Amino acid sequence: MTSLKQIVDRAFAERYGVPAINVVNDLTMEAVLAAAVQQRSPVIIQTSVKTVRSIGMNLLYAMWREMTSGIEVPVALHLDHCPDREVLTACLRTGWNSVLFDGSRLPVAENLRQTVDVVFEARSYGAHVEGEIEAITGVEDDIGSDEEARRQSLPVALDFIRKTGIDVFAPAIGNAHGVYRSEPHLDARRVSDIVAAEPVPIALHGGTGMTDAQFTDLIGRGCAKVNISTALKITYMKSSLAFLRMAEERDSWDPPSLFTSVRLAVVEMAAAHMRRFGSVGKAW
Ligand code: 13P
Repeated sequence: MTSLKQIVDRAFAERYGVPAINVVNDLTMEAVLAAAVQQRSPVIIQTSVKTVRSIGMNLLYAMWREMTSGIEVPVALHLDHCPDREVLTACLRTGWNSVLFDGSRLPVAENLRQTVDVVFEARSYGAHVEGEIEAITGVEDDIGSDEEARRQSLPVALDFIRKTGIDVFAPAIGNAHGVYRSEPHLDARRVSDIVAAEPVPIALHGGTGMTDAQFTDLIGRGCAKVNISTALKITYMKSSLAFLRMAEERDSWDPPSLFTSVRLAVVEMAAAHMRRFGSVGKAW
């Protein structure tokens, strides 16, 4: 396991993006790690609170430990959007080396106060912290809202970054979780303004559905961690559906063949994002 800070700081300095991919079970965790090894790319494996609850924290971590033991590319285990301090503490204690404390529903002053606490707590485990002051639009794994949050001013964002000492900052720039109904209009300038004033690696949420040009532009401005979740869910479900339709047609029912087929689709989806974000060959 490599420190999240090491992974994103290097990507930020060299202006490539590290895919931070939400996995949902053992098959997808293994497939995303296999893509990283195949592409010689660093990768951040993300788990939502929903996934932690559905699989169980200890089992999920045991899977991670087993699958990454001896792995030859830099990998980090990140807890995505967590508003629940108890779950966050338990994940840090279990071994997650990175967390996103989602205090975006709190008033900024209270979010700041709690994020300072979380950074202090994470440091005692040698772990790192992503912070946010505005909710990212869209509901993902039961967290969030479809209403677009009001964006805070640049001084408020900079004050939050400086006072909390977070390692990665996730601003709202018109991005959203889930499927975009039309091409998103992204406030790329906001990323540049933040980075110019405070050189902190930026997390780009809502990656599914962005164009290559948008990724290239935003990564060039400092988005070093690029979150992908919906694309994996769609790949997983649609490749399962295609395989099951074929199984029905042939009246042939072999679960391991289903797993192999879905795994291949997920490996290819993750590898394609590594190519798009410029992280191929960046393992050390
Ligand atoms: P998508 O679901 O749009 O890919 O967003 C992922 C994300 O930002 C996870 O936090």
